[in-house]
Amino acid sequence: MKNTLIAPSVLAADFANLQRDVEMINESEADWFHIDIMDGVFVPNISFGMPVLRDITKHAKKTIDVHLMIIDPDRYIKEFASLGANILTVHYEACNHLHRTLQAIKAEGMKAGVALNPQTNVDLLEDVINDIDLVCVMSVNPGFGGQSFIENTYSKVKKLKDLIQKNGASTLIEIDGGVTNKNAAALANAGADVLVAGSYVFKASNQIETIKGLKAIANS
Ligand code: DX5
Ligand code: ZN
Repeated sequence: MKNTLIAPSVLAADFANLQRDVEMINESEADWFHIDIMDGVFVPNISFGMPVLRDITKHAKKTIDVHLMIIDPDRYIKEFASLGANILTVHYEACNHLHRTLQAIKAEGMKAGVALNPQTNVDLLEDVINDIDLVCVMSVNPGFGGQSFIENTYSKVKKLKDLIQKNGASTLIEIDGGVTNKNAAALANAGADVLVAGSYVFKASNQIETIKGLKAIANS
């Protein structure tokens, strides 16, 4: 029996009604809160920062999965731990010393994640796979919600799953970008453990039912 988790991306929420949207996720069948932090340098967009995250974690009752799209993320590891992040994901492309960064995240009591841009080969993670709790496979180029899913993601997920199994690791595979009811089942079948969904959830008129439906499809 599959147990694919759903992580709505707060980037697509209505920031003028943020508490309402956080409560919606609390009440839904969603498993995690996915929080996108962008610095306008690593990606060509700026999202939101620490004060907003602090207010989200005040109300959120589920795992806080923070996706850092920032350069030199080591500078902020302690701060994100103190703000209540449970999983802290850094980009492979933004770290000079990934092994050290992963240890620093775990030393703060968080799970350590690594995100891969669409052009980054999963084989580059082989030597650190046993140190990684979660790999976030970007299925769009990071920086914006609402983009269309890159089809090459399926083969990437299969390759990553093989790498994880070959090394006896327990790393989770998360898919981020363009997830909908159209690709959720195929992604779960390819080996995805966690599906991030932003616009698909927040553009829906009934968000609670949309999350429920997505979870059912992903676990069918
Ligand atoms: C993109 C972000 C995603 C984004 C997903 O850079 O990392 O988490 O919010 O949004 P959708 O589901 O709309 O593609
Ligand atoms: Zn994200």
